[in-house]
Amino acid sequence: MSNFPTGGHVSSGEPEIVIMEPPEDKLDLIWMGRKKYGYDKVLQNWNNCLDSIGVEPDVAHTYIIDQVSENLVVQLLNSLKSIPRVEFNKFDCNTNYVASSMKNTEVLLWTRFLKFFNFKEEQLALVKLICEELKPVIENYLGTSFRIINVKSFETLPGSYYFGPNKRHRDSLYPMHTYKVFVYLTPPNIMDGTTYIYPTADDKDKISMSGPAGTYVLFNPVLMYHSGHPPEKKRRAMLEIILVPSHKTEINPTFNGTNSTIPVECI
Ligand SMILES: [Fe+2]
Repeated sequence: MSNFPTGGHVSSGEPEIVIMEPPEDKLDLIWMGRKKYGYDKVLQNWNNCLDSIGVEPDVAHTYIIDQVSENLVVQLLNSLKSIPRVEFNKFDCNTNYVASSMKNTEVLLWTRFLKFFNFKEEQLALVKLICEELKPVIENYLGTSFRIINVKSFETLPGSYYFGPNKRHRDSLYPMHTYKVFVYLTPPNIMDGTTYIYPTADDKDKISMSGPAGTYVLFNPVLMYHSGHPPEKKRRAMLEIILVPSHKTEINPTFNGTNSTIPVECI
């Protein structure tokens, strides 16, 4: 296994987190997607766009759990050592993407318990290799081509509790035909952090990921309930690949900010 850095418990002596408001002109750019169309309109356009591609409806209620090559995960982990983690920032969203709206109380928890990796070209090139390895699996699962619309990677700190991604939820900010691949960069299990998915929406049927680094789950997070299970002692590191069905497979992963969701336009 890798020698990925581990984290200690979040102590009460941690510096106070202050949410900085950006200048007004920058704010306008960040919220452009919302201002221009409103999020509902953006989602409606996306749903119309993706409906025409046609994924079997039953796919949304299935999932795949498997592993990517350990070699690629080790390379990505080594590459992550050279880049700083960045705080979650609700204003950190590329202008051609839509930012999630959230209250400052929620932002404080995201900032405190999630540490993002600011992916550059080197990391994105490795993510591309991981996506290429997953390509036949994803195409077979969807029954169609796909394209990557966003990529994020972050650590969940030990001691993070019941908030945001750790609540049982569905990703209502994404179009219905959005799929995610969670690739665990540290071995997922109950002690070291994992994810629960609820294929039947019934708590008693929940499934958790468990295995070596490189274990992944592919599922539809908009239609299937899921919840993060935080680690007890070590940081849980994860890569999140967000994809949609497409007429032609395009694997050009991009990181669009810690609070980015979907592109404003469904092109
Ligand atoms: Fe989610």
